[in-house]
Amino acid sequence: MARGEAYEEFVEKFRPTKTTDDCYTPPAVYDAALAWVRRNCDIEGARIVRPFYPGGDYENYPYREGDVVIDNPPFSIVSKITLFYLSKGVRFFLFAPHLTVFSPARECTAVVPGASVTYENGAVVRTSFVSNLFGDVAAMSAPDLGQAIEEAQAREDRSLPRYVYPVHVLRACDLGRFSKCGVRYVVRRSSAQHIARLESQGKRASIYGGGLLLSAAAAADRERADRERAERQTATAWPLGETEWNIIKTLE
Ligand SMILES: C[S@@+](CC[C@H](N)C(=O)[O-])C[C@H]1O[C@@H](n2cnc3c(N)ncnc32)[C@H](O)[C@@H]1O
Repeated sequence: MARGEAYEEFVEKFRPTKTTDDCYTPPAVYDAALAWVRRNCDIEGARIVRPFYPGGDYENYPYREGDVVIDNPPFSIVSKITLFYLSKGVRFFLFAPHLTVFSPARECTAVVPGASVTYENGAVVRTSFVSNLFGDVAAMSAPDLGQAIEEAQAREDRSLPRYVYPVHVLRACDLGRFSKCGVRYVVRRSSAQHIARLESQGKRASIYGGGLLLSAAAAADRERADRERAERQTATAWPLGETEWNIIKTLE
């Protein structure tokens, strides 16, 4: 603690940032939400504004008569923001965490599409919306919005570069896949070296999260684990029942 620094200031510096306040919206998801609002609400000709950005100040944003705020705000202050907009008569449709969608205010509508959004920081958040564009509706499901969000993410997913690595490169996601399928895989430090990228990637790309470069023996064992995983993923193992065992006993 620096001399003269108040304890509260000191503690504040180390307060972990709330990752859900930094959940940046994939553009395709935003476009899906905006298109849905356009189809379902009368906002023809209105200016759409997004006052939530780093260093932004939504309370002093230069709103104009008729603006509609369609944006993803810091989740931790959604209630405060909706109360502010309601008091100022600003129309809004805001992303909000699913579990707290009823908290903001009684004059809001909870729009629940039943979709999870993978935000740009990687956080997967079950996401709903709060709005004052639906009159006296307290809450509504929105299956078509959910579908539009899922489809937008699937499209975005397909457009991401797909990298395939040799069996000698082990990433954390590979281990995660093994665990999900109940496959055991262990590699010793003497058989692996941490790498950030392959020579072939040059400056164009790198291994997301880094990886372990495996020895020949560790790579062979990794192939075994890959095979086991593939088998467990595709095969449903049906056991023999008493009937079959009784038949088997009668067979030569
Ligand atoms: C969940 S992020 C979403 C950012 C962007 N609107 C989007 O949809 O990707 C919320 C943003 O609001 C910013 N923010 C925090 N407090 C704010 C405030 N009082 N006024 C405006 N923006 C604020 C944060 O810095 C962060 O960039």
